[in-house]
Amino acid sequence: MNEDTRRVIIDTDTAGDDTQALLLAATANDIEVEGVTICTGNVEFEYMVENAKYTLDMVGTAEDVTVYEGARTPLVKTHEYADYVHGEGGLGGNLFPDTGIPSGDRHGADYIVEMARKNPGEITLACIAPLTNVALALQKEPNLNELLDEVWVMGGNVNCLGNVTPAAEFNFWVDPDAAKRAIRELDIVLFDWGVTVRDTVFDAELLAEIDDGPDTELASFFTEITAPVREFNKESQGRDMTTQPDAGLMAALIEPDLIESAVTYHVDVDEREGLTRGYTLVDEDDITDGEARTTVIESFDTAAFHQMFKDMLFESSPTASL
Ligand code: RIB
Ligand code: CA
Repeated sequence: MNEDTRRVIIDTDTAGDDTQALLLAATANDIEVEGVTICTGNVEFEYMVENAKYTLDMVGTAEDVTVYEGARTPLVKTHEYADYVHGEGGLGGNLFPDTGIPSGDRHGADYIVEMARKNPGEITLACIAPLTNVALALQKEPNLNELLDEVWVMGGNVNCLGNVTPAAEFNFWVDPDAAKRAIRELDIVLFDWGVTVRDTVFDAELLAEIDDGPDTELASFFTEITAPVREFNKESQGRDMTTQPDAGLMAALIEPDLIESAVTYHVDVDEREGLTRGYTLVDEDDITDGEARTTVIESFDTAAFHQMFKDMLFESSPTASL
C-alpha cells in the first residue's frame, strides 16, 4: 500500500454491474478492498453472497477480501427482486456459483462500524446497493460520518426520471427509509441514475467491440452477465445497450479525474409508500433551508470510462492506458 492507496469497503447487492464494480476495484492499483458487505437488493440474498465471492475469486482476491452478510430485507418496506433484469441468480441466468468460501463472522453493518472505529478517517464506503447496511451502521454508530474518510453512493435520480418508477431509482426505492437516513446523516458523493444514463452507456458498437475483443475470462464473464439486461433493454427501450451505474461510481472513485463536474446540494428522500416512494429531492436552486451536504456528480468522462472498463476486461488493469 502506498500513501495514495484508498482503503475501501464495498457494500453491494452483487448481480449484474455490481460484479464489474467489484472487478474494477479489485484490479485497481490504488484501491485496497478491505471487505465486501452484502445488502438486500437485486436478487435472492444467498445468490448475491455467492456472486460476490465468485467475482473476487476470478481475480484471485477472495482469500484476502472477506464477504460479510448484511441486511436481508429493507428496514421497513417489503422487497421485490430485480431478477427480471439480471436473470435468476443475477449473473445472466445460467451461472449459479457455489464457491465454498466462508462468509465473515459478523453482520455487514457491524463490520462497517468496527472498521470505522478501528481506523478513524481511513475508510471509504463505496455503496452500490440499497442503503440498509449503512442505515444499520448509523444506528449502531451515530458518529459514522466523522469516523469515515468518504462515503460514495450509487443511487437516486437527480431531477430526472427513475428506473423503477418515474419517480425513483432502484437503490433508493428498495429502501427509502435507509436512503433518507444516510442522506441526512452522512456527507455523500452521489453517482445517480441521471449521470448513469447520460455518461455510462455502452452502445451496440462498444458491446460488439467487447464481444469481438481479446478472449479473456473477464470479457467472457461480462458478455454472459449482460445477456439478459441487453434483452431487457431491447424490449423496454428498443435499443441494444447496457448502463454501468455501479461500475461508473467505482471508476470515478478510482480515478477522480473522470469527474467533469460535481456540485454540492441539499438532498432528501421521500420514504413514504405511494407514487413518490424513493423520490430524490435535490434543491438545485437552493430554495429550501436544508443543509447542502450531498455532492452530486453531474458529468463524467465517458470516453475515459470506456477505456478503463476495456482495460479492466482485457488487461486486468483499469488504469493501464491512463
Ligand atoms: O439503479 C441502479 C442500481 O440498481 C445499481 O446499483 C444496480 O445494481 C441496480 O440493480
Ligand atoms: Ca447494485
